[in-house]
Amino acid sequence: MQFRNDPADVLARLDALRAADAPTSGGRLLSYVYDPGVAELAELAGAAALRAQSLNGLDPTTFPSIAAMERDLVELGRGVLAGGDPDVVGSVTSGGTESCMLAVKSARDTWRRRTGAEHRPTLLIGATAHAAFHKAAQHLDLRLEVLPVDPVTARLRPSDVAAALSPDVALVVASTPSYAHGALDPVEQIAELCAAQDVPLHVDGCIGGWVLPWWPGLTRRWDLTVPGVSSLSVDLHKYGYAPKGVSLLLYRDRDRHRAHWFATTSWPGYSVVNPTLLGSRSVMPIAAGWAVTQALGEEGFAALVAPMARATERIRGAIAGIVGLRVVGDPVGPLLAIATDESVSPERRVDPHRWSDAAGDDGWALQPQPRYTQSDGTVLPRTTHLTITPVTERVVDDLIAALQKAADRTRGVPGADAPADLVAAAAQIDPADLTSEVSAAVLGLAGLDPKAGLTGPQADVLALVEALPAPVGERLLIEFLARFLEP
Ligand SMILES: Cc1ncc(COP(=O)(O)O)c(C=O)c1O
Repeated sequence: MQFRNDPADVLARLDALRAADAPTSGGRLLSYVYDPGVAELAELAGAAALRAQSLNGLDPTTFPSIAAMERDLVELGRGVLAGGDPDVVGSVTSGGTESCMLAVKSARDTWRRRTGAEHRPTLLIGATAHAAFHKAAQHLDLRLEVLPVDPVTARLRPSDVAAALSPDVALVVASTPSYAHGALDPVEQIAELCAAQDVPLHVDGCIGGWVLPWWPGLTRRWDLTVPGVSSLSVDLHKYGYAPKGVSLLLYRDRDRHRAHWFATTSWPGYSVVNPTLLGSRSVMPIAAGWAVTQALGEEGFAALVAPMARATERIRGAIAGIVGLRVVGDPVGPLLAIATDESVSPERRVDPHRWSDAAGDDGWALQPQPRYTQSDGTVLPRTTHLTITPVTERVVDDLIAALQKAADRTRGVPGADAPADLVAAAAQIDPADLTSEVSAAVLGLAGLDPKAGLTGPQADVLALVEALPAPVGERLLIEFLARFLEP
C-alpha cells in the first residue's frame, strides 16, 4: 500500500505534538492523571488494549471475550464494594460522566414508571456533587435541586436531605468523596433517610471508590453494603490505573439496572440493545482495565493505596505548616483542596490561585478551583486542588519544597479580581444574545485568545469565572474551547 505519509513519520509527528502536553507520569501533574508509578502496569494496559483494538463492544455475543471481561469486572466490583452480594449487577461504561448519567436515567425512568406522573422528577444533589450530575439533569431533563453543603466540612448535611426529600425526588446523590474537596458525605445517615421514604440513593465513588476500600483507618461505611444505597459508580480509569474510557456502574436491584438500558427493534436494521449510551464502542479501555485488575488483584490495589495515603498525610502536614494556607474540611482519601487561611492577618495570607500559579512556574501543575456561593449565601472559598497518586510519594519532598517556596513567593499578594468594567458589562448581557461572534468579542475584551490556549498564570481567568453570571461564563467557556479546537 502506498501511504501519503510514512507511518514512522506520522508517529514522529504525534510524538512531537505530545511533547507540548503536561507530563502524564512522574507526579508533577496533580489532576487528570492517576500514575501508579509502575511501568509494567502501563505496558500491560497498552498490550491488552492492542489485543482488543479490532473488537466492537456493540455486541458481546459476537465477541464473548467482552462479556467475559465485563463479568470479571462487575464481579470484582461486587466483591470489593458490595460484600459479594450476588444480586448486585452492573455495567461497564466509558467513564464517570457516563456512569452518573446512566444512574440518573435509570432513576428517572423508574420514577416515571412507578408514579405514572407527567412532570419532571427532581435530582437532589449537594453543591459538591460532581458536575456530571448537572449534565445529567440537563440532558435528561430532570429538575436539579442543589443543596448547600456545610461550608466548613464541605459535606452534605443529612438534615438538609431530610427536609428536601419528597415524592418528586427520583434520586439523591452522595459523593465518596467529592472531587473538589475530598469530602466524604455521610452515606449511612443519608441512606437511612432515603430508605425510609423509598427514594434511591446513588453513591458517586467515581474517584474515590477504588481507593477508600483500602484507605487506612476508615471506619465509616459508604458503599453498597449500606442498606438504602441503590447504586454506585467507580471509575477504573482513575484509581484503577486503566487508560481513559472505563468505569463501573453497580446496582443493588436488577430492574433498576435494566432501566438504564436501551433496546429497539423498530427499525429495519439489526436489533439494537445497548447497556450504555454509545452504540459501537471501543473495547480497548475495558481490556486494559480488566488486565490491570487481573494483574493487581485486591492486594495490589491495597499496596498502591499505602504510599498514596502516606504522601497525603505528609502533604497535609506540610500545608498545616505553611502560614497563610489551610486544608479545607477533613478530607478522606487522596484529594485535597487548599484555601487561604483567613485567621492570619492579610499580609500573611496566601491566595490559592497565586500560589498554584507560582508552583506552575516551577513545573508543578496544581488545579485552581473557583469560589462558589451556595444557595443559602454561604461561600465555599476559592481553592487549589491536589489529586495525589501512588507516584506522589516518590516526589513528595520536592513537591512540599515547591509548595512552601510558592507560598513564600506569594504571601501577602492579594488574589486576582476580574476587571470591574467587564463584570459590569457582563451583568447586562442576556446569555441568549451570546452568539459565537459576540462571545468571541467578549473573550477578546477579557484579553483571552482561544488560539493561544491556556498556558501560564490562571488566577485572572479563575477570577473571571467567579465574577461572571454562570450562564455568561459557561457560554464563554464553550466559545473559548470551541475556538481552541477549531482548525
Ligand atoms: C466524584 C466524581 N464523579 C464523576 C466524575 C466524572 O468522571 P469522568 O471525568 O470520568 O467523566 C469525576 C471526575 O473527576 C469525579 O471525581
